[in-house]
Amino acid sequence: MQTIIQKIKEECSNLIENSTLTKELNDIRIKFFGKSGEFTNLMKGLKDVPKEDKPAVGKMLNDCKKNLEAKLEEKIKELELKEKDKKLKEEELDITLSGKREDVGGLHVLSLVRNEIVDIFTGLGFTVSDGPEIETDYFCFQMLNIPKDHPARDMQDSFFINDNLILRTQTSSMQVRTMLKQQPPIRIVNPGKVYRVDSDATHSPMFQQIEGLVVDKNVTLCDLKGALELFAKTLFDKNTEVRFRPSYFPFTEPSVEVDVSCPFCGGKGCNLCKGTGWIEILGAGIVNPVVLENCGIDSKEYSGFAFGMGVERIAMIKYGIPDMRILFSNDMRFLKQYK
Ligand code: DAH
Repeated sequence: MQTIIQKIKEECSNLIENSTLTKELNDIRIKFFGKSGEFTNLMKGLKDVPKEDKPAVGKMLNDCKKNLEAKLEEKIKELELKEKDKKLKEEELDITLSGKREDVGGLHVLSLVRNEIVDIFTGLGFTVSDGPEIETDYFCFQMLNIPKDHPARDMQDSFFINDNLILRTQTSSMQVRTMLKQQPPIRIVNPGKVYRVDSDATHSPMFQQIEGLVVDKNVTLCDLKGALELFAKTLFDKNTEVRFRPSYFPFTEPSVEVDVSCPFCGGKGCNLCKGTGWIEILGAGIVNPVVLENCGIDSKEYSGFAFGMGVERIAMIKYGIPDMRILFSNDMRFLKQYK
């Protein structure tokens, strides 16, 4: 009996030691310690052991069983831990890996800049409207004090549809359309597309303008200056300086061209501002009384200021874009920078 116990002990012990999976240990448990396992059978066999040997054999069997069971439990714990570790390793998430980003659409840089400009003026109480891109010569030129054959037309080489219809060359036509419909006080901005026969690195046959118009009692050049200074400081930088230069537009008197201190060199002079420290951003002036009267507004009671700027030009200045054509090239590498 002792020899059998010894043999079973060795067999069980070896099996436990060589197991690598908890599942194998469970099988061992059933095989040796289960209801009809080896040890239960040995216990049953005790009754056939001679009486005088019984205590010793019984003790040996008990000790052996206890030891092996303890060994089995220990091995189970050890393997459970190992298996848990292995599972954790397999399921490990490397949170330092950069994720896969979905490509989301964004607004075109020109839409972004246009919205930014419009937002500044709506913040000052201006309302926004737009009108037709196919415009009459009358609204685009004549009502703005630019008669047929006036030399000022040279500045805006136009696409004619017929003698009276053109693709609008300037959003200033919206001044006329607004004043014909509405009496002062007027405070509007008109973003929209305009068209001219012109094409190079800084001109495009189609571009966008934003027109502004204020008509009220006692509107002066100071109001224009205040509004445009605030606009420039908000759009570029709070330290931006604004300079007015005398100019000429038939629909304003006096007329000015407005420069800002170069946003790139802060006014010291660089390539972008051609060493002058200043960059022109728009045209403006006090609305010519002739235009007010053309639109049925009493120029003795009311005065106004107006301004007009090119969105592409402002975008190019704001972001240092050297060639206008890239704005229309749909190159994703360029566009993705401005989302
Ligand atoms: N319409 C002018 C242009 O396209 C820009 C402009 C200048 C608009 C002066 C204005 C203004 O309203 O007052 O060049």
